[in-house]
Amino acid sequence: MCGIVGYVGNKEAAPILLDGLAKLEYRGYDSAGVAVYDGQSSTIEIVKAKGRLQALRDLTGDGANLSGNIGIGHTRWATHGEPSVTNAHPHSNKDKTICIVHNGIIENYQPLKEKMINRGYEFVSETDTEVVVHMLEHYYKGNPIEAIARVMHRISGSYALGVLFKDHPGELYAVRKDSPLIVGSSPEGNFIASDVPAILKHTRDVYFIDNLEIAKLTADGITFYNEDNEVITKELTTVEWDIEAAEKGGYEHFMLKEIYEQPKVVGDTISPRIENDNIVLNEINMTDDEIRALNRIYIIGCGSAYHVGMAAKYMIEQTARIPVDVDLASEFRYRDPIMDPNSMAIIISQSGETADSLAALREIKEKGIKVLGIVNVVGSSIAREADNVLYTWAGPEISVATTKAYSTQLVACYMLGIHFAKVREVIDETQYREMIEELNLIPDKIQSILADKEDIQRFATKYAGAKDMFFIGRGQDYATAMEGSLKLKEISYIHSEAYAAGELKHGSISLIEDGTLCVAIATQPKLVEKMISNIVEVQSRGAYVFAVSTEGSGMKDTADFTISVPKTLPCFSTSLSVIPLQLFGYYVAVAKGCDVDKPRNLAKSVTVE
Ligand code: AGP
Repeated sequence: MCGIVGYVGNKEAAPILLDGLAKLEYRGYDSAGVAVYDGQSSTIEIVKAKGRLQALRDLTGDGANLSGNIGIGHTRWATHGEPSVTNAHPHSNKDKTICIVHNGIIENYQPLKEKMINRGYEFVSETDTEVVVHMLEHYYKGNPIEAIARVMHRISGSYALGVLFKDHPGELYAVRKDSPLIVGSSPEGNFIASDVPAILKHTRDVYFIDNLEIAKLTADGITFYNEDNEVITKELTTVEWDIEAAEKGGYEHFMLKEIYEQPKVVGDTISPRIENDNIVLNEINMTDDEIRALNRIYIIGCGSAYHVGMAAKYMIEQTARIPVDVDLASEFRYRDPIMDPNSMAIIISQSGETADSLAALREIKEKGIKVLGIVNVVGSSIAREADNVLYTWAGPEISVATTKAYSTQLVACYMLGIHFAKVREVIDETQYREMIEELNLIPDKIQSILADKEDIQRFATKYAGAKDMFFIGRGQDYATAMEGSLKLKEISYIHSEAYAAGELKHGSISLIEDGTLCVAIATQPKLVEKMISNIVEVQSRGAYVFAVSTEGSGMKDTADFTISVPKTLPCFSTSLSVIPLQLFGYYVAVAKGCDVDKPRNLAKSVTVE
């Protein structure tokens, strides 16, 4: 989704803005622009370009052609109006004396636009954003905070806005509602950004702006206001990420780097929560009595986070014997769900900013159910609005296709499952010890799969020309199949479907023809025999089967190509079997020459519905 950067300080703004926008490229975009003010000219200077950031770099001489110590920049991911220079941000009023960048959607822009047209304002773009800048002009009577607050009370939807007023040459304004925006502070100036990597080079000291709060930044100070224009105090947070974590570090793509970081970040997520060989989850803030009283758990997420929920359902139900409902956030929020009062909800999100997941969270809280966030980005909206947060320590994930965040979410769920099972006395001390011991071995086992990637790489290269693929599995392996299929399709653009293997013969097996690649995940000892039958079934219709199974399972005798993963407890199997599938998707996409880290039409953080 759109990315915003803003700077005011003692340096030239344009190169800083372009550099910051480059760090937000991973969010997905189709055009970009910057607005810089030199403090003297009669207008704010705006330069915009369609396509890659390089086009904007070329137009501005890498920023050297734009002079001024204050500016705002934007990468646009089109929602209203096609990708074009006119629709690209920044947008300005007619005189170019007020200029804005926006991330989000102004839901009531149509009636507001009509009103502004009747008042004589001319619109040049098809965007929802443009209405905001004309409204700012209309309400501006010399005090920017007042004008912003008046506009804020009239627009609905989601927005993070960066605003420049020519009349206030050294002041950069920012406001947000339901779209991410942080404020960074440094001795060389102050910043706004959609995400930490954009400003990490300059500072790790950030403020998180809450909904309907306004920030005024000058070269040497930041003031925050609430929606009633009263000055408020905010706490400064130091971001722990280092700059290397947000760089490629010699890898060809962020995705590959992040795949290889998995042993470390999975370990980082597990180890701080193990004390004296026991799982300690103080962050979830639940007493043993509350855990015993649980009748049901609801897990909600989108995309891969939803797939984690699916795997967690199998794991938690089997281990702790608590019924788990898993929902797509976009469905959950509109179906007026009937929720058990003795339940808890878990919202899983890497970014912590996914619009549907955030809306589901609010819906659940309104019903009086406590929400636990399993979130990666510290200080994100979901992290702040959830009652409690279990952070996944994956570090910044840049590639649009999630890998390391997904793996840390999985182990966070396992830890909950084991802890609940212990408290509810579903497992005894010996089983508890065995589970913790196995949990601790997951990072090394992931490492051993990564060390032996050549076969997968060769196999993936052979299948880069495929048109369709099928991923099948049973039980937890079905959840893994869904994630493997999503990984492949989002980055390689090859159509693929995930099926519960037992469902094939209820319709979709008719799609199998000579040479169709079928990826079968078979790690569940109780279900291996059933999977073998399904594999033989598709092979007899011409399918070529790539199986991901456990060492010693005998799958090599049946499948056409097999990758074996180390043995673990069946309930942890997704953590291992997903690794070959991530590598498979990655190498297919590389062989096809796809833009692996920034797949077409996709955004890293889906902050609009
Ligand atoms: C998966 O590779 C995708 N990037 C996508 O499905 C993602 O998991 C989904 O959009 C949810 O994002 P979140 O974890 O930031 O909420």
